[in-house]
Amino acid sequence: MKALLLLLITLPLHAHYDALGIGTAMTDLIITASDEFVERHAGKKGGSSVVTIAKVDEILAELDQDPVIIPGGSCANTLKGLARLGIPAAYHLRDGIDEYGMRYEENLKQNNLTVIKVEDQELPSGRLVCLVTPDKNRTFLSVPSAGAAFCPQDLQPSCFKDVRLVHLDGYSLRNKSLVEAAMKLAKANNATVSFDPGCFQLVREHKSEIFSLLEQYVDILFLNEQELKELSDLSATEACRALSHLVEVCVVLQGQKGCLVGSKNHVFHCPSRTVEVVDTTGAGDLFASGFLYGVLSGSDLHRAAYIGNYLGSTVIQHMGAEIPDEEWPQILAHIAP
Ligand SMILES: Nc1ncnc2c1ncn2[C@@H]1O[C@H](COP(=O)(O)OP(=O)(O)OP(=O)(O)O)[C@@H](O)[C@H]1O
Ligand SMILES: [Mg+2]
Repeated sequence: MKALLLLLITLPLHAHYDALGIGTAMTDLIITASDEFVERHAGKKGGSSVVTIAKVDEILAELDQDPVIIPGGSCANTLKGLARLGIPAAYHLRDGIDEYGMRYEENLKQNNLTVIKVEDQELPSGRLVCLVTPDKNRTFLSVPSAGAAFCPQDLQPSCFKDVRLVHLDGYSLRNKSLVEAAMKLAKANNATVSFDPGCFQLVREHKSEIFSLLEQYVDILFLNEQELKELSDLSATEACRALSHLVEVCVVLQGQKGCLVGSKNHVFHCPSRTVEVVDTTGAGDLFASGFLYGVLSGSDLHRAAYIGNYLGSTVIQHMGAEIPDEEWPQILAHIAP
């Protein structure tokens, strides 16, 4: 009873959207750090681990820099990109009611997203320290927060009605059964399901569960080469081909090389373009926005991959996982059919 009283769900009235994201609310605190610093505080470079708020404060104090504060979360980044590309989209989350939580919700709305928020009156909202090393690699440290309590009972079945696409990321695998419950609701509503595991450690932690989700529900899978290696010892092309038997479309993200796309035993490569890299945060997330935009607007897979590469290679020219407002008109003009 207590838990019920503490929850408030804000449901949009009469909102219609084609794409629905379900995931964590996470504010990114981006700071630069040396390899030695990352090793000492976060272990292996490129990984993602959970720490206390006290640990975050210790890191911020030791580095003595003002972090760049950007609302993030892999799934939310992808949905924001989709909304910016003109696809009506919504984001379903559970988050706190503190300042970070309120700012996060505001940012989703500013990016044209309908927000379906389960308000947690007790736990803090999500935040993630993103340590960027000189080679532009990122290592993540997150804090347990309201998002970790997002559970299948929080999902609003009515919010899946008439949705064409439901997107989830692997961070939600830490919320027991949430991903499967959401994918089941998506399938019951005939929506396409896309999934991006987001981090090789999550693939390692949830390997058998991921295979089961791929077999039963996932239509479009995005993963990078590091994540792919956790699922298969084969070469990238052959692993992509093998996964294309489990899902409709398997997309392997290959950084500056672009991507591989596998579907029905056929694999092709689509190159990215040469750009000046500032920070690779959000590359995979915005790639997914572009690719899914292509699919939802009826493009073939080659065109979807081209748009994915274009968005991925655009966001890395900026700090953080957002493309600045003033660049969107040019992007829309570039990808127009
Ligand atoms: N250096 C680069 N030059 C050009 N394009 C790039 C570069 N890095 C990334 N991209 C584009 O972004 C896409 C996704 O990047 P990447 O392969 O690094 O995914 P990822 O490892 O999943 O990223 P993330 O960690 O953000 O999830 C690539 O497929 C490519 O289109
Ligand atoms: Mg990724």
